[in-house]
Amino acid sequence: MSTDTRIESVLAWEALDSRGNPTVGTEVRLRGGGRGTAIVPAGASTGSHEARELRDGGTRHGGRGVRRAVANVGTEIGPAVRGLDAADQAAVDRIAREVDGTADLGRLGANAILAVSLANQLAAADGLREPLYRLLGDGAPPLLPMPMVNIVSGGAHAGWSMDVQDILAVPLGASSLAEAIEWAARVRRAAAELVAARDLTAALVADEGGLGPPLPGARAGLEIVTAAIERSGLTPLADVAIAVDVAATQLVGPGGYRLGERGTVIDSERVIATIAEWARAFPIVSVEDPLGEEDWDGWTRARDALAGLQVLGDDLFATDLSRLRRGIAAGAADAVLVKPNQNGTVSGTKAVVEEARQAGLATVISARSGDTEDSWLADFAVGWRTGQIKVGSTMRAERTAKWNRLLQIEAELGGAAEFAGRAALELRVRAPRAGLSRGPRSSSAG
Ligand code: PGA
Ligand code: ZN
Repeated sequence: MSTDTRIESVLAWEALDSRGNPTVGTEVRLRGGGRGTAIVPAGASTGSHEARELRDGGTRHGGRGVRRAVANVGTEIGPAVRGLDAADQAAVDRIAREVDGTADLGRLGANAILAVSLANQLAAADGLREPLYRLLGDGAPPLLPMPMVNIVSGGAHAGWSMDVQDILAVPLGASSLAEAIEWAARVRRAAAELVAARDLTAALVADEGGLGPPLPGARAGLEIVTAAIERSGLTPLADVAIAVDVAATQLVGPGGYRLGERGTVIDSERVIATIAEWARAFPIVSVEDPLGEEDWDGWTRARDALAGLQVLGDDLFATDLSRLRRGIAAGAADAVLVKPNQNGTVSGTKAVVEEARQAGLATVISARSGDTEDSWLADFAVGWRTGQIKVGSTMRAERTAKWNRLLQIEAELGGAAEFAGRAALELRVRAPRAGLSRGPRSSSAG
């Protein structure tokens, strides 16, 4: 294999994601022999400002087929990038965007464009014989991220068994990624035992590998996860804290938000007050999408009112640079969720991470609820030093692919491995909570 990193060929096919829906797979081959393969993820609770994936409609796969997107790689994107240097990711992405010609990439499909963009980045690393995270790091030291691990799901991820979408464990007190994963797995098992003691739904797994028991509301889920942390022999907040993804855009309806007792509709202020109340009763450190994607004023008020929490924007920002800039100007959030397929290209996603960092926002790189067996997201977290990562629970292979890759990188780095630890969140939480300011745990725990 030579180090000629010019693109020789691009192949695409219709693959399946973890929900069994079609998605785009792509392989990029380089003249020197380097290769990269990527299969793109897809969301369920998608924001309306995301780059637009192309679906076929009709009857195949219930209309969700991606044969047109696959064909667009073969007839338009592939030919346009052939001969370019894969090591110049920005140039490849620029050409792909230009060929599409639309702002939301909806003509050729953001799924087609991201597949080529990702496969190109992977091929470049292979061709240059560098681990992907090293190439992405561009000289910066690798940083292993603090995980957010899905324990209980509701909303669009679990047939609306509960109103909020996800309740996650954040192993704040862990001193390594390996310890963080072990603690999270322990909490996941303990939560399953608690659910099994009440009903039979513990064997049922939600879209991201969390539990999906029918619950009257978020408080019941928060109680289960807090009890699971204690049952695991860990201290809530100091060892393992909680993150909540309200996914409030999904709760917007006539007259306000459908949050709380089933059917109740409340306004932004009541939503904020409800979250503040949860944060007083439970060891919560991060809240994602507390309000809807268009409720800009509400977000600014929420960030002021929830000063002890990391206020994290997912659908609000949709990994889009101009929305992020608007949010920064408005003081709408402390952190941005980063999903490559909301953006459409690797370099566009990187620009969002860099902009956030410059403005002092934290970054949480994230998988989708319909994800694939690919592990590149782990390398992106480490190389780009995002500090935090969310990929679902500690089970289901499309989830463990990412955790296992992070564990491999940590092992590979050995003594040189740097783990983001609690500092990944501490810097953002403007009114530190008692448990957060405690010193780090010894590394022998767990
Ligand atoms: P999605 O869920 O992939 O269904 O959008 C993930 C999230 O909301 O964070
Ligand atoms: Zn979300």
